[in-house]
Amino acid sequence: MFHIAIDGPGGAGKSTIAKAVAKKLDILYVDTGALYRTVGLFVKQNGVDPKDSEGVGALLPKLSIEVKYENGAQVVYLNGVNYGDAIRTPEMSMYASAVSAIPSVREFLLEAQKEIARHNSVIMDGRDIGTVILPDADVKIFLTASPECRAQRRYKELCERGQSVRYEDVLAEMNSRDNADSSREIAPTKAADDAVLLDNSDLTLEESVAAVIAIAKEKVGGEIRE
Ligand code: DC
Repeated sequence: MFHIAIDGPGGAGKSTIAKAVAKKLDILYVDTGALYRTVGLFVKQNGVDPKDSEGVGALLPKLSIEVKYENGAQVVYLNGVNYGDAIRTPEMSMYASAVSAIPSVREFLLEAQKEIARHNSVIMDGRDIGTVILPDADVKIFLTASPECRAQRRYKELCERGQSVRYEDVLAEMNSRDNADSSREIAPTKAADDAVLLDNSDLTLEESVAAVIAIAKEKVGGEIRE
């Protein structure tokens, strides 16, 4: 069993790359951002301000989050319902970022993340995987790219999902979210001391996937088979 942690800011391609690596190595891909997005959705459904830590904390006992794998893909159930792409809107990005700065929310999601890794080889992406969730991960990568490059990718992804957005708004929203995620007190976006930094501004998706697999092979060796 081995664990690959990928952290970094939004739009660096963490999820697309991690998904492709998981497929090649036949391991689980764990998208931890989806968990914070799901908490954000529940907070919105209940009309609570996502920055109100007491209000959000009071909702947690009414919230059950289950992570399942269906046809190899991660599906998150919020009180028994899979809301699919409803957690992927720019509004939910902001909700997720706001609730993720609340200590009781991070505590609430901690065990579910650790539990998946306890029983499986995984590639897990997020902001604090190498630092907090899997501090003993065999491979830690901090993936980043220039802000313009990341905004362009996010813009393209949202357009492909049929959402009507402007590039300028995506860039501004991404910068503000990255600032919030990396300056918060608890579990800020940060490279672990032993993480390998990978800037993929000039890499294609295939090249990024190959780079991650090369780093993993170097760290883990024979256990990694494509
Ligand atoms: O990776 P993402 O864009 O789906 O994440 C949404 C938000 O969730 C992000 O702005 C910060 C938060 N998050 C976090 O704090 N820790 C994680 N491990 C993953 C996401």
